[in-house]
Amino acid sequence: MSESRPAAVIILAAGEGRRMKSRTPKVLHSLCGRTMLGHVLAAVSELDPEELVVVAGHGRQQVSEEAGRQAPRARVVVQEEQLGTGHAVRMVTEALGVPHGTVVVTYADMPLLRGQTLRELAGRHSAAGNAVTVLTARGDAAGYGRIVRDAGGGFVRIVEESDATPAELAIDEYNSGCYAFDGELLADAIKRLTTDNNQNQEYLTDVLEILREAGHTIGTVLAADVAEIKGINDRVQLAAARRVLNDRILDRCMRGGVTITDPASTWVDITVAIGQDAEIRPQTQLQGRTAIGAGARVGPGCTLEDTVVGEDATVLYAVCRQAEIGPGATVGPFAYLRPGSTVERDAHVGTYVEVKNSVIGAGAKVPHLTYVGDAHIGERSNIGAGTIFANYDGVAKHHTTVGHDAFIGSDTVLVAPLIVGDGAYTAAGSAITEDVPPGALGIARGRQHNSEGWVERNREGSRSAQAASQARAAQLARGGDSPEPRTALQARGDHPPETLVD
Ligand code: UD1
Ligand code: CA
Repeated sequence: MSESRPAAVIILAAGEGRRMKSRTPKVLHSLCGRTMLGHVLAAVSELDPEELVVVAGHGRQQVSEEAGRQAPRARVVVQEEQLGTGHAVRMVTEALGVPHGTVVVTYADMPLLRGQTLRELAGRHSAAGNAVTVLTARGDAAGYGRIVRDAGGGFVRIVEESDATPAELAIDEYNSGCYAFDGELLADAIKRLTTDNNQNQEYLTDVLEILREAGHTIGTVLAADVAEIKGINDRVQLAAARRVLNDRILDRCMRGGVTITDPASTWVDITVAIGQDAEIRPQTQLQGRTAIGAGARVGPGCTLEDTVVGEDATVLYAVCRQAEIGPGATVGPFAYLRPGSTVERDAHVGTYVEVKNSVIGAGAKVPHLTYVGDAHIGERSNIGAGTIFANYDGVAKHHTTVGHDAFIGSDTVLVAPLIVGDGAYTAAGSAITEDVPPGALGIARGRQHNSEGWVERNREGSRSAQAASQARAAQLARGGDSPEPRTALQARGDHPPETLVD
């Protein structure tokens, strides 16, 4: 289809979109991980036009930046005042000259349009040698310009809804806002537009009537899928379009071998990749550059943004941003992986664990109630419940390294900067402020002192005092006197890393 390669594609994106009631220009509202403008740029790139032009006006700075991000070769033409779709196209022909060949014009508020549909439109346009070919649809035409035909079914003109008679309003064929023009005829006719209509605008749609009256052939192509040509004017329509696009993405995933247990509550951005036999469970959102490996299970209740999940990993009830989860690793329930977090192969990040800018080494476990910030945890190390990597001194962030096969006792505070060596232990409840050499046990906590009989002396008559008296009496009856130290180790004054939770 190279003969129908268009000379230019013009995307109109200058309107404010007042019906969005937003500070953000309409075409920069997003669905499925891309702005409306971004979706349209992706679709038109399939036409491989010689020239790609975006008309910007309202919010031109942001619109130009987005155009540059999504399609670096796009040229931006500014329409100072939004005086209509025809006026917008006139700004392009005045700025860039008359294009020789096919010019495709489309609106940036049609995010569901497929590149394939545009290719067919351009192809049929050049094959038929039309002056202009317009993409139309049939169905509920409310809000759209209607296609007026003569008794023989020939194209007459497009009438905007606000200018239509009751009879014209009853027409069920409508204008998509997507056209293939002969460039020279377009450039000529566009100069002859008037603002003689209810919106006092230069309508691009009037070009078709002008060309027909001059004796040129106007073609129409009926869109096969009405959903594709939905123009988004307000947030209700945006939500409906998002649903349609999400369904398209999920269909593609499922046909590619992915299990989606609840499509209704699963939202996947167009930029996401999911491997075969992965299972995406309910209430899950996969966003941005997220990639899910083959056989991985994600959800229920996950929001993953720019996150890579390895093969056969499991992630449930987790929020992960710019994180990497290795093959076979398990994350959650109720985990939060912040940017720069890497959970290596077969490692485990469990419940109420937050990780930031850290590596959890292969096979290591951080099972419960822990904050890991700016740290590197070596392979197979075990981080006890309630451990805090204290990385911030109020001014700067510092790094902690825990070696491999280390054992951090429950409720340890590791005050960075710090190195805990390979195979080292820390005692539960320690505030570790100095490096722990490999294989050493780091203890940093007050020694326990039991004040015998304190409760009976100071809480006389309380339930606790009664319980204490009863226990003492029972002990005496058994022939004991004072309570035994708990362990021989304690008797020697050497503290074990007790209260390990697993
Ligand atoms: C337009 C069509 C209508 C069609 C419908 C399809 C005209 C006159 N009407 O109506 O026949 O059925 O789209 O969705 O073309 N824009 C500019 N500059 C302007 C005005 C608009 O760049 O001065 C851009 C907008 O940003 C938008 C697009 O053109 O992306 C369409 O404008 P909009 O106001 O939404 O047109 P509709 O009233 O929907
Ligand atoms: Ca519109």
